[in-house]
Order: sequence, then C-alpha cells, then structure tokens
Amino acid sequence: MTDIKKAILEGIPSELPEKKQYDTTVSHAPKRKDLLTTEEKKLAIKNALRYFPENLHSVLAQEFADELKEYGRIYMHRYRPDYEIKSRHFEDFPHKSKQAAGIMMMLSNNLDYTIAQHPHQFITYGGNGAVFQNWAQYLLCMQLLAEMTDEQTLALYSGHSMGLFPSHKDAPRVVVTNGMMIPNYSQPDDWEKFNALGVTQYGQMTAGSFMYIGPQGIVHGTTITVLNASRKIDSTAKDMSGKIFVTAGLGGMSGAQPKAGVIAKGVCIVAEVNPEATYKRHEQGWVDEVYKDLDQLIDRAVSAREKKEAVSIAYDGNIVDLWEKLVEREIHIELGSDQTSLHNPWAGGYYPVGMSFEAANKMMSNNPEKFKEEVQKTLVRHTKAINTLSKNGMYFFDYGNAFLLEASRAGADILNETGDFKYPSYVQDIMGPMCFDYGFGPFRWVCSSNSAKDLEITDRIAAEVLEELMINAPKEIQLQLQDNINWIKSAGENKMVVGSQSRILYADTEGRMKIAEAFNNAVASKELSSPIILGRDHHDVSGTDSPYRETSNIYDGSQFTADMAIQNVIGDSFRGATWVSIHNGGGVGWGEVINGGFGMMLDGTSDSERRLKSMLFWDVNNGISRRSWARNKEANFAIKRAMEMEPKLKVTIPNFTDETLINKLNL
Ligand SMILES: NC(=O)c1ccc[n+]([C@@H]2O[C@H](COP(=O)([O-])OP(=O)(O)OC[C@H]3O[C@@H](n4cnc5c(N)ncnc54)[C@H](O)[C@@H]3O)[C@@H](O)[C@H]2O)c1
Repeated sequence: MTDIKKAILEGIPSELPEKKQYDTTVSHAPKRKDLLTTEEKKLAIKNALRYFPENLHSVLAQEFADELKEYGRIYMHRYRPDYEIKSRHFEDFPHKSKQAAGIMMMLSNNLDYTIAQHPHQFITYGGNGAVFQNWAQYLLCMQLLAEMTDEQTLALYSGHSMGLFPSHKDAPRVVVTNGMMIPNYSQPDDWEKFNALGVTQYGQMTAGSFMYIGPQGIVHGTTITVLNASRKIDSTAKDMSGKIFVTAGLGGMSGAQPKAGVIAKGVCIVAEVNPEATYKRHEQGWVDEVYKDLDQLIDRAVSAREKKEAVSIAYDGNIVDLWEKLVEREIHIELGSDQTSLHNPWAGGYYPVGMSFEAANKMMSNNPEKFKEEVQKTLVRHTKAINTLSKNGMYFFDYGNAFLLEASRAGADILNETGDFKYPSYVQDIMGPMCFDYGFGPFRWVCSSNSAKDLEITDRIAAEVLEELMINAPKEIQLQLQDNINWIKSAGENKMVVGSQSRILYADTEGRMKIAEAFNNAVASKELSSPIILGRDHHDVSGTDSPYRETSNIYDGSQFTADMAIQNVIGDSFRGATWVSIHNGGGVGWGEVINGGFGMMLDGTSDSERRLKSMLFWDVNNGISRRSWARNKEANFAIKRAMEMEPKLKVTIPNFTDETLINKLNL
C-alpha cells in the first residue's frame, strides 16, 4: 500500500504529529474578523477539541486558542498531511466504493496548491470559498470516503463529517450542505461568528461541492457572454469579429475577458490599473499586447477591427482615462462592460482616476473618507463617458460586479425615467433569456483516469454528439449549439486545463443527456480508460436562486424565493446523483443566494445509463419549468419541446395576460 493510501486510511492520527511551520510559499487567507466574546472563544476551542482524544487536549487547547487569536479561525495547522494533495487517478485513492474514490479525487483537486487560492485555509476561490473548516475535517472525510461502501451515505455538514449512514447503491454517496442557516441568522457577520465557532462555512459554488475546474469555467462563460452580447446588436452574428469590446479588470475572474474576446474572434480592450496584474496576465499569454499610450492603443484596435483580426489589448492605466479618450476621439465601440471589483469599492476593488495606483493605495489607508469621495467622483465620470458612447450605439452591460449599483449610489446619471438602471445586467439580458431559459448551462466533466488522452477522446465524442443534434435543431437554439461546437473543437488547443483533466461545455437538456450517454458507452467499450465524472457549475439553469444574478430575469416576484434550488437538489439526490450539494452564499454573498449542484460518476454500466437519463432530464427541466411559469417565453418554448420529447413530463403552463387589461384596472 502506498504511503498516501496508508495516511488517508489512518484519518486523524492518534499520536500528536509534529508542529508545522507557517509556509510562506503558498498564499494565505487574511486574518478573519474577530467577533467572538470570551465565552464564545471557549466554545470554539471546545468545538475544535471534539475531534481529538482527551489526552491531547492540554497541548491542543492552547494551540487552538493561539490560532484563533492570530488568524481569527482554528485551522489546526499541525494536522496538515505531509503528502501532496492533488487530483490523481481515482484508483490511487484507497477505496471500497469507486464512486467514493471519484469524490476523493474531486475534492483533492479543489485543495491542490496550484489551484486553490489559500490552500492551507481550504479556500479554493473567491476569498472565502471553502472545502473544509479545519484539517481534522479533511482527514476525517477522506478516511470515511476510503472506508465507505455503496451501501452507505456520508452526511457532510459544512465540512464536518457527521458520519456514514446506511443507504443503498442508488443513493448519493455524499450529501453536502454548506452554510445553511436559519434565515434570520444569515447576515455577513453571522458567517464570521459561526464560522469562527467552527459550525458552518461559506462553500461558494464549486468550492464546497468539489466541482471546481480552474479558470477554464470562467473563460467559457465569458466567451458565451460576449458572443451573445454581440447578438444584441447584430442578431445573426456568428462571432465577435469586426467588433470592439471595451472593459476593465485583469484580476481573478476578469482576467478571462481578453482570452474570451479572442476566442470569440473579436478585438478586446481591457484597462487594468494595477501594473502587476497587467504584466502577469501578459506573461501568462492571457492578453496579447500592452499599451501605456492611449492613442497608440486606439489606433491599433481600430485597425484590427478593420482587418477583422482577433486580438486582446491591455491598457496599463485607469479605465476612465480609456473611456474618456474614446469619447474625445469619437471612436465607435460596439460592446462595453466592466469587471472591476465594485462589489468592494472602498477597499481596493475600484481605483480613482487621476492618481497612481500607489498613491491610491496610500490614500485608501491614510484617508479613507477622501478615497471614498474620489471613487465616487470617478464613477460619475465613468458613467458619463459610457452614456455618451451608448447614445452612439454601444451595447453596455453590467457584469455582475455592482457597477450599476455603485454608480447610482455615487449619484451618477445611471437611472432612466422610470427609476430603473439605464443598462441591463449580463444575466437579465444575455445569460438568462439566451442561455438558461433554453436550458443551456455550464455542464462539465472530469476524467477519473486523470489522463489527457481520455480528455481528448471526450472532446471528440462531445463534438460529434453536438454536430448530430445540430442537424434537426430548431432555429432558436442553433447559434448556441454552434458556439459550443466551435468551443469544444478548439478546447484542446486553447490549453485551459489546470489540475484535473476536465472540460466545460454549455449544453441544454438534450445535449447533456446525449453527451453523457455517449461517454457512458465509451467507458463500457473501453474506448475511455476509466469512468467519467459529470457535474456543472451552480451558476446554471436550475441550481441557483439568486435574485440579482442567476434568477434576475425572473419577473413574477418569485426571484426572492429559493424553492427551485431546493427542489433541484432533492430531485437530483433521488434520481441518481453520486453526490449532491446545497449552499447558502456563493458569488453574490452569504444570505443572498441559495445554490446547489451534483456530481455523477459514469462507470459504463446500465445503472449509470438509467441514472444519467433520469437525473439530467430533471436537473435542467426543473429550472426551465420554473422559468416558463414566470412567463419567460424562451423557457415556455423549451419546456413545451421537452414535453414533446418525453410524454411522462407534464408541466403546468402559464396563461399570458393582456397588459392593456391589467393597466386599465381600477386599483
Ligand atoms: N467573470 C464573471 O463571470 C463574473 C461573474 C459575476 C461577477 N463578476 C464580478 O466581476 C468582478 C471582478 O472579479 P475578479 O475576480 O476579477 O476581481 P479582482 O479584484 O481580482 O479584479 C478586478 C481588477 O480590476 C482592477 N481595477 C480596479 N479599479 C480599476 C480601474 N478604475 N481601472 C482599471 N482597473 C481597475 C483591479 O486592479 C483588479 O485587478 C467582481 O465584482 C465579480 O463579482 C464576474
């Protein structure tokens, strides 16, 4: 047996391991807020000691107290294993259940040092998207997964393994809940407090559900968004060629914009105020060219547009200088957006114009009031330039970063006569009606062999399936299908894999089911060397209720309910998912969203075929039916089509009302 297998099977070591040095080679989470009272601190330490035998408490109690003081959380650093945590061939994990081994592989990928944002604090992405709360939870979970059979289910409460419970082979092997709170205790400081007590965690979307696949997911989503944004001004546009997209931000997620712009075959200009981020993205090959001189940059972009060249260009400077120069030179811009971190405007998410990056950082800490004033003045100028270009035909959209909200708070001219924002958000206008309402969403798969060759085979199979579907596809979804055929055919060349051998592909119900079936057949015939694990981002058709993002194009009032996400996870769990997850928080914040997901191992058996057909059909059509009931006409079209395909589906269809009748009512 390998050392790793032995270590996993040992679980929490019975002997006290050596104390670990603070490792400066990895990024660490910032110190968390310290909100606990003295009595609550005692409770947090008692809670942590529950994982260890009493004879170790005298040493560990003070150590945990010190961690709480230093980091605001108890991570139990001493218990960090010595082996490398990463995605491996699933058979390399000790197991009695192949499904459980697949789950070990997926959660290990989320903690891989080259992938996770703060691996020693279990944060995969987004600053607080956690897989576990402490090392004892990691060790215990891995041990239980290694021991479990296909007749058991692990109940995982915000990283804590409550235990293995008897179930049956069609039940999920793991049920994950993260951050589920009594609604009145779901304010941001409640997370700080209860996370510090060690009783809950923020799972983000794919962090706590073991479904993160690195930057590929965001590149594909951004590509789909900009392609469909192009169609807002040119409904038959095949791609973005001959169009300029101007935006800001080369950070964590925003750094995907230039890559996506080029994959979409357009000209993408991105301003970034932090030179370190700009040159890092340039070195990584995510952005092609960098300019400091705005005239040169604009000349280059305009000539690339004329030649229909696909190129990404970074402006090493403030986005407002770029927008104002475009106005001054009267340059026509087709598409505009912004991905500065305006969800966090006062602490470095958005930089004021007219001063250097360093000067702004100084002002932020020395004179926060003045900094706030400068940010707001900048937002007013930012909006003014966008308004001018939009009047001349630019299509501008908010990229879920609170640009519209903060601009309005700053007093910028961003509201129309009816008091609504002048510009749509990307989900309201693009992702919702053009993708989610038809069932297209971020389907993904991972090769449990961890083999690049298997991934190549799956790419080919998926492309063949989509091409076959394209032959009889209704015109409403042809462009979406074509985008994904293009994506999957060049996915290998785009070299997006970091960590596990995985692929993302926007697909609808039929596409997901047919691709999954073809994979299962290829596992059965041994064309693929080992099982395929299916999943998806939570940012999808049915998995997420989030009134300002995923469900922002629901207008019947139900955008503030979370029945869809809960129905979804319950439905997935009894239709054959290998694991399911449901989270409070993710993307837009704790208390602001309920989102869920699944993982499903396809091992080539007829059981897998039965499960995939049953579960994927529900997993997409649940959301389409809800979107249709909310009177979204695209979803109405999609659900009627689904009923034609599956006679056992009988969805309640809304009756549409004559608006003039409603408007004439005496109320
Ligand atoms: N990409 C997506 O699919 C997506 C989806 C939803 C929301 N978002 C939102 O997009 C925002 C960005 O996310 P991120 O992970 O890239 O954040 P990030 O903080 O890593 O990157 C933002 C970048 O903007 C730069 N910036 C700030 N002010 C600037 C200015 N005035 N001019 C030029 N550059 C400026 C910062 O230096 C930083 O590098 C977040 O608010 C996020 O919630 C993105």
